[in-house]
Amino acid sequence: MMSQMFKQDVEFIKNVFRAEVLPLHPPYFDNREIELTTECIKSTFVSSVGQFVVDFENKIAEFCGVKRAVACVNGTNALHLCMIIAGIKPGDKVVTQPLTFIATANAIKYCGAEPVFVDVDKDTMGLSPEKLDDFLKKNKDIKAVVPMHTFGHPCRIDEIKEVSDRHGVILIEDCAESIGSFYKGIHTGNWGQSAAMSFNGNKTITTGGGGMLLFNDEKLADRAKHLSTQAKIPHRWEFRHDAVGYNYRMPNLNAALGLAQLEKIDKILANKRELAEIYKNYFKDRFVSEPENCKSNYWLQAIKCENKKERDEFLTYTNDNGVMTRPIWTLMNELDMYKNCTCGDLTNAKWLEERIVNIPSGVRL
Ligand SMILES: Cc1ncc(COP(=O)(O)O)c(C=O)c1O
Repeated sequence: MMSQMFKQDVEFIKNVFRAEVLPLHPPYFDNREIELTTECIKSTFVSSVGQFVVDFENKIAEFCGVKRAVACVNGTNALHLCMIIAGIKPGDKVVTQPLTFIATANAIKYCGAEPVFVDVDKDTMGLSPEKLDDFLKKNKDIKAVVPMHTFGHPCRIDEIKEVSDRHGVILIEDCAESIGSFYKGIHTGNWGQSAAMSFNGNKTITTGGGGMLLFNDEKLADRAKHLSTQAKIPHRWEFRHDAVGYNYRMPNLNAALGLAQLEKIDKILANKRELAEIYKNYFKDRFVSEPENCKSNYWLQAIKCENKKERDEFLTYTNDNGVMTRPIWTLMNELDMYKNCTCGDLTNAKWLEERIVNIPSGVRL
């Protein structure tokens, strides 16, 4: 009975993409990526300085409606820099959601701080403002909070901002998955002190590997740029550094690829929304739609299974039959490194962990 439904699902998905083997989210390139990366190689400026990086930063800032963007090697070190800029120190406690990619928790740990896990909403799959408020009322020693926009679906970020402001807690947005996602008409990444994005190969647009910090504060952006550049004091020949910095700059070659991708982002986003409509019509209530007040980038499309048993059967059947699917992440507090961390009540995260599966989400040609 169940396998009959999965068989239909597999046939439907293959038909949508007109392909027999389907990865989860391959990158989408055309000649423009070849043109710009070739131009970069011919210029010889393939490494840590170059005009492509400057242009990519400016264009991302413009696209997201923030004052400044600072390019990094990947989303994980962009998040790490957000923590450093926020002044996160060893022993500090930082709230995040248990349902996230490991990098969110790791970036907190890189600072010697302790991640603390608070539950998500069932519909947004992102941090719950009510549960955050409740937690912060009882725990006065939290330094910062890092909500994440899961699969590109914005969480209730204005309410999270109100709660974190009221409790005097710094807000950092993990926007790794949410380029092109808007909450109440404003691009994600505009609510916190800073935000981090990822341009990994599986993201909506890619630079191969890459990340970006977003700021609405010029001074913090300058500080992030400086720290990402080994804290080197600009000078034509002298090497002087005024802090322990990091080699976190995005190479020019990656930025050239990113610029070519950014030129076609509207097309990519429209294609992904169209796919969401097709999936919604077929999967009906099983499909995970964008939450209220949100325009999602539908980075990774998802469906809800009845329970863990059905989820596991669906994963087995689809992956055995050429359609790549994967479950949402194992909760952070279930991993060895984070199992002793403080947690709130995590009922919703647990419910989602057992049911949510990503299905092929790439651009249909
Ligand atoms: C929620 C989240 N945070 C952080 C990252 C880290 O980004 P990167 O892989 O570019 O280091 C990713 C994705 O890869 C992510 O999905």
